Amino acid sequence: MLRKTTRGSEARWARVASAEDVAADQITAVSTDRGPVVLARVEDRIYALEDRCSHQDYPLSAGELEDGEVECVFHGARFDLCTGRATRLPAVAPVRTFEVEVRDGGVYLRLE
Ligand code: FES
Repeated sequence: MLRKTTRGSEARWARVASAEDVAADQITAVSTDRGPVVLARVEDRIYALEDRCSHQDYPLSAGELEDGEVECVFHGARFDLCTGRATRLPAVAPVRTFEVEVRDGGVYLRLE
């Protein structure tokens, strides 16, 4: 799906999951043509991050949600769900985040 952004360029949105399949306080892994993505629902909001830890590239989808962050199961790094910022060592670099929209029962990510 293409839609005009406020700057006139075209944004590409892709439906990646059914909203009801993204369980509260759990991590859901989905595939996109931009690579694997982690979805996380905290309260009424769904967040999306690249499914690749910035420490050693292991999948964040193997991790857990803790206090609004995703924790990598491999060495314990944490990332803010909103910004992708690394909040705990050993990771120092952020992970990519994606804009999320929930409409018509689907979860859409802005991929470009
Ligand atoms: S790969 Fe995630 S903390 Fe090391």
